[in-house]
Amino acid sequence: MRTFQIDESIIKYSFGDPIKTQAIVLEGTETNKGSLDYLEVSTGENLKLYYHMKTEDIVLGLGENQRGINKRGGIYESFCTDEPLHTPGKKALYGAHNFLLVDGSEKFGIFIDFPGRISFDIGFKHKDKLEIIMSGLDADIYIIRGEGLRAITHNFLKLIGQAYAPPKWAFGYQQSRWGYKTASDVEEIADCFIENDIPCDSIYLDIDYMQDFKDFTVNEERFPNFGEFLGKMKAKGFRLVPIIDAGVKIEKGYDIYEEGIQKGYFCKDETGEAFVAAVWPGKVHFPDFLNEEASKWFGSKYKTLIDYGIEGFWNDMNEPAIFYSEKRLGQAIEVAKQSENENLDIFAFFKLKDAFSNLSNSPADYGSFYHLMDGKKIKHDKVHNLYGYYMTKAAAEGFKEIKPKVRFLLFSRASYIGMHRYSGIWTGDNNSWWEHLLLNIKMMPSINMCGFLYSGADTGGFGGDANGQLLIRWMQLSLFTPLFRNHTAMGHRNQEPFAFEKETTSIIRDIIKLRYSLIPYIYSEYMKALHKSDVYFSTLSFEYDDEISRRVENQLLVGESLMICPIYEENAIGRYVWVPEDMLLWKHMGDSKEVFSIARKGHMYLEAELNEIPIFIKKDKMLIMGKSAKNVEALIGEELFVVAFVSDKASYTYYDDDGKSLEYQDGTYYEILMEIQKTEDDFIITVENYGNEKVKKISFQIFDNNKNITRKTFIM
Ligand code: GLC
Repeated sequence: MRTFQIDESIIKYSFGDPIKTQAIVLEGTETNKGSLDYLEVSTGENLKLYYHMKTEDIVLGLGENQRGINKRGGIYESFCTDEPLHTPGKKALYGAHNFLLVDGSEKFGIFIDFPGRISFDIGFKHKDKLEIIMSGLDADIYIIRGEGLRAITHNFLKLIGQAYAPPKWAFGYQQSRWGYKTASDVEEIADCFIENDIPCDSIYLDIDYMQDFKDFTVNEERFPNFGEFLGKMKAKGFRLVPIIDAGVKIEKGYDIYEEGIQKGYFCKDETGEAFVAAVWPGKVHFPDFLNEEASKWFGSKYKTLIDYGIEGFWNDMNEPAIFYSEKRLGQAIEVAKQSENENLDIFAFFKLKDAFSNLSNSPADYGSFYHLMDGKKIKHDKVHNLYGYYMTKAAAEGFKEIKPKVRFLLFSRASYIGMHRYSGIWTGDNNSWWEHLLLNIKMMPSINMCGFLYSGADTGGFGGDANGQLLIRWMQLSLFTPLFRNHTAMGHRNQEPFAFEKETTSIIRDIIKLRYSLIPYIYSEYMKALHKSDVYFSTLSFEYDDEISRRVENQLLVGESLMICPIYEENAIGRYVWVPEDMLLWKHMGDSKEVFSIARKGHMYLEAELNEIPIFIKKDKMLIMGKSAKNVEALIGEELFVVAFVSDKASYTYYDDDGKSLEYQDGTYYEILMEIQKTEDDFIITVENYGNEKVKKISFQIFDNNKNITRKTFIM
């Protein structure tokens, strides 16, 4: 083992010859520290780490995964998996986010930089034992220290580098569905948004826009004059966001296939031939994104769609998902032939059944193809968790070549830590279940801790049918997620805001309008988190150290000023809430009706009818809003509305930038510093403007601890 001091808070322990995954951005200097802090190590066939958890220890982390925010009691895996049914027994979903945060008498972070399969037993087999088993011996282990959970996370986020920023329009509401089959389907949806006076920024194109599911093609019959159509849609106020899948269709004459074969850019099987799997188009090859040349090549192909006017993409099926491989399908058919006309007993029947039901995403297939990484041949399962990351990196680096100055919307299904520097993620194929609304709440802080700020779920649920009530309650959460997209699967009930009865549509309209008023705060908090290596969503324990806050699993902090407590149970007209300090409770009720009250520290029953959105504003904090509009571009932003809860002094730094370019990376952005100081019988407001020429007026609504309101206006 070699050890490296990365900075004053992070030590790297390097075992064997680890694969350079590009998860981190800080290199350290070698030291000669003897053994790991906190953890016991054992090596044999696999590298194993152990930690003895004390009764009070809470273990956070693992990003996009199942169960609670506190991962204790569960067994998990890091192995990017195309898992369409997120039921509690599943150990892995699409992301591999190997960061844990131990919160007890000892507080520290562990990051395991290892791209193969890892198992995390966090008090499952033995309640006090944390056991991490890697499927190999070569790994970099990082131990991260800091003064408290937020500081440890901050140190970790510095290690893995600055998160990706999408263009500002990607903070608007986005509508998706697998099943918008033609240009007129898409236009009809856009028109419904306009007719129903519901703001929206983009409409998604799922696999149906392609010609026979071939990447970088457009079906000309269903989407004639694609470029013109995009222009028309943009004039109406909508951007279109197409999907790109990892598998490239095997088809003579299809340029991507022909070039990939000719240049040897696809993953190879044991015999050195391009590996054949099957996904949507039938048989495909997988581009070898881990091969730098192949990655550049694939990244450059996005140009075809960018040239039409596309400004954002979602990368899918990049675990990579495999419906079946040629070889294993052949074996299954063989079993079927042998079974024909037989009297199948239990063993024979299950052999036949399993031969087919285990065809997809088979570990045997993942162990049967190869990459060329840094000139070395590597078996896929050793680097499996990098595949989606490297596909997405290929896209992002492609964009940089194609249009170096602008931001693109990009998010991916599969991911590994490090990919957050290039894109966001969505949480994949959830269901229209109340349980998945709760899971969405729980995942958000964990995902943020692992670097992915731009994230969100398929609002309303992907699989299954949502009723209006579920969609409303889910929207009341997604209202705060940077990626706010409603997506559903083919074959299920329509899930657009106007697909329900009038009353539901009207409540949803109000939620989406509220989202647009909140964009000044959401964008400001997102970009500040990115610049400061901080999170956007966090658990209450990041701010409050009382025992109840440490254990709350269904309330979140959003940025520096807000706490949200979404309703996630059917037919509920309220819920219990833990208020960790006095807060201002704003109940937004639509029709411009708003009710404010002071929520006192302690437990409370929060009433919230279906049309009511409760938002808690923390003590000595401010919420910044603007006027709503039909899309992000139409947000004028001349007037800001501030709701503040001030018992002593509140300050807020309002961040903004051009929302389009990458200049924020060089420090080109604007800040308005606001301060509200309580005096004996008044509030003194100071405002300092650093470069924001848009804002002309700020209207303050200030509440004191007795709910007295003071209104003031500041003209710039
Ligand atoms: C996958 C994606 C889903 C998409 C579907 C069809 O299941 O996760 O979002 O709609 O493929 O492309």
